[in-house]
Amino acid sequence: MSYNDIVNAAKIKDDAIILAIESSCDETAAAVLKGGREILSSVIMSSATEHVRFGGVVPEIASRAHTSAISLTVEKAITDANLSLGDIDAIAVTYGSGLLGALLVGVSYAKALAFSLNVPLIPVSHIRGHLAAVYLVDKAIEPPFISILASGGHTAIIAVKNYYEFEVLGQTLDDAVGESLDKIARTLNLPYPGGPNIERIAKSGQTNISFPKMLKGKNSLDFSYSGLKTFAINYIHNNEQKGIEFSKEDVAASFQSAAIDVLVDNAIKAADKFGYSVITAGGGVVANGYLRESLALKATRKGYKIVIPDKKFCTDNAAMIGAEGYLQYKKRNFADLSLNAKANVPLN
Ligand code: KG4
Ligand code: ZN
Repeated sequence: MSYNDIVNAAKIKDDAIILAIESSCDETAAAVLKGGREILSSVIMSSATEHVRFGGVVPEIASRAHTSAISLTVEKAITDANLSLGDIDAIAVTYGSGLLGALLVGVSYAKALAFSLNVPLIPVSHIRGHLAAVYLVDKAIEPPFISILASGGHTAIIAVKNYYEFEVLGQTLDDAVGESLDKIARTLNLPYPGGPNIERIAKSGQTNISFPKMLKGKNSLDFSYSGLKTFAINYIHNNEQKGIEFSKEDVAASFQSAAIDVLVDNAIKAADKFGYSVITAGGGVVANGYLRESLALKATRKGYKIVIPDKKFCTDNAAMIGAEGYLQYKKRNFADLSLNAKANVPLN
């Protein structure tokens, strides 16, 4: 029998053991999940320190780091789960969005392993993985809900109607929130990755700098970060050029709240407007303490339930790919061995 025949005949199990692989940016990650929500292991190797001196991720360095880390990462995920390769029912892999060369490492590895084990290969969208991370924290949570997607490449307010149907209710018209935090961090001479460093210094700053309002029209749930970013960069450069002392901490605190308040407020507006009672969030920026506290406070005040993944499942990881992979597995959304990596994958 050919690989495709074997996969087409594969039985779908509720408690399937799924090996998930993620390599879209600078984290090489592998995880083993049982039944889509139980994490048996989660391993993350990061090449972040290799990118620090360049101030951002260098794609070529990321690809090389994935190549040397992938085997070890997958082996460790299987050992940590106390399983052997023969126990794996399917392999889920991020095929996009992300850096092509980086994605290809995970995709090629997953294809070879799926072929050699004769198990289905499940292509997973990185963005959907971020949204599915919420299933790892609350075993009972089910759609519908409103979700804030806030990462280095994407920023949106999404209605998750059921496990497979999504509607973008509002989104950034230009930069992503993570990208803008990274840019301001760089302008303040803080090391990469910028978001966590902005959060760190913001703790001793005041939100005393008024940033321009950026909501796009009264009824729109869209937002824009480029005006905010330019304002902050000009503020920093003008003060530096004139030799005026200013507080980096205040810039960080003011920028952080301006960038995040609009996300939280728009998610709540979306729940109000479309009648949702649960709000979730996913993506690297959701590791931000200010976002987490502010969402908890504002949503609870309105009587909405909030579910946010643990910080380690907000930034890139493979467990979230396994959670989304399981949903695709249940639908038999398998790829054949011609699966390719894609720089951009639409949400739907
Ligand atoms: O989801 P992610 O790990 O990768 C992408 O899919 O893009 O998100 C990375 C982004 C970066 O911009 C990083 O600065 C930001 O998430 N980030 C944070 C925090 N941790 C990561 N931003 C603010 N506060 C944090 N604690
Ligand atoms: Zn991500």
